[in-house]
Amino acid sequence: MAVTVLCGKIAKTIQKQELDEITAKFGKICIDIGTGDGRNIYRKAKNDKETFYIGLDPVKDNMEEIAVKIAKKPEKGGLDNALLVISTAENLPDELCGIADRVTVLFPWGVLLEGIVKPEEEFINAVKKAAKNGAEFEFITTYSANCEENMMEIRGMPELSLDYFNGEYKEKLRQFGLTVLNTELLDNEFVKGFDSKWARRLAFGRKRDFYRITGIIG
Ligand SMILES: C[S@@+](CC[C@H](N)C(=O)[O-])C[C@H]1O[C@@H](n2cnc3c(N)ncnc32)[C@H](O)[C@@H]1O
Repeated sequence: MAVTVLCGKIAKTIQKQELDEITAKFGKICIDIGTGDGRNIYRKAKNDKETFYIGLDPVKDNMEEIAVKIAKKPEKGGLDNALLVISTAENLPDELCGIADRVTVLFPWGVLLEGIVKPEEEFINAVKKAAKNGAEFEFITTYSANCEENMMEIRGMPELSLDYFNGEYKEKLRQFGLTVLNTELLDNEFVKGFDSKWARRLAFGRKRDFYRITGIIG
C-alpha cells in the first residue's frame, strides 16, 4: 500500500516508511479531513512548527496552489511540516491510520457534511481510524434553513442547534467511540480567522451560526 501526496503539482505515492521519516521529528500530527484548498493547514503549520499537518482531500486541483507553496524553499514560504494527501475520508490510506494526535473537519460540505453532522458511522470511523487513541477531534460546521433549505431537504439534514449537538449528536458519537467535551456556538467573526477560500466566503457572507464540536477519540 502507499499514500498519494502532492509534491508541487505532481501527485506521487510514498510508502509508510517515507511518511514516518518525514514526520519523525515532529511532536504531534494533525490530520485535516476535507481540507479543500489547504490554506487552513498551511497557516496552522506555519505558526506551529512542532506539529506536522496533513491535509486530506480527493480534489487534487484545489490543493495544487498550496502544494506548490509548501514545496518552495523556506525563505519563499516553503514548509517541512505540511503535506497534502489526495484521498477521500472513506478510503483513508492505511499509512494514515492511528497516527494523528488531532483530527479536524472544518466547514465540510456535501457527503462529508452529511457524514459528520448526521453523523454516519463510515465517516466517524474515518476520523477514528486516523487518530491515536485519546486524540482530539474538532468539527466546525454551519448551515441553516435560511441559507440552505434545499440542501437540508434533499440530504435530510437535521436542524442545527446546541441542543442537537449536546443531545442526540453527542450520544451517537459516544456510540461510535468519540466523546464530545465541548460544543460552542460561534459567529462570522470567529471564522474570519481561517484562511481557506471557502471559510472566507462563509465568514464574509451572510450572518451565520457556526457550531464547533470538540472532544476526544476513545
Ligand atoms: C467546503 S469544502 C472545503 C472545506 C475546507 N475544510 C475549508 O475550510 O476550506 C469541502 C471539501 O470536502 C471535500 N470532500 C468531499 N467529499 C469528501 C470525502 N468523501 N472525503 C474527504 N473530503 C471530501 C471536497 O473536495 C471539498 O474540498
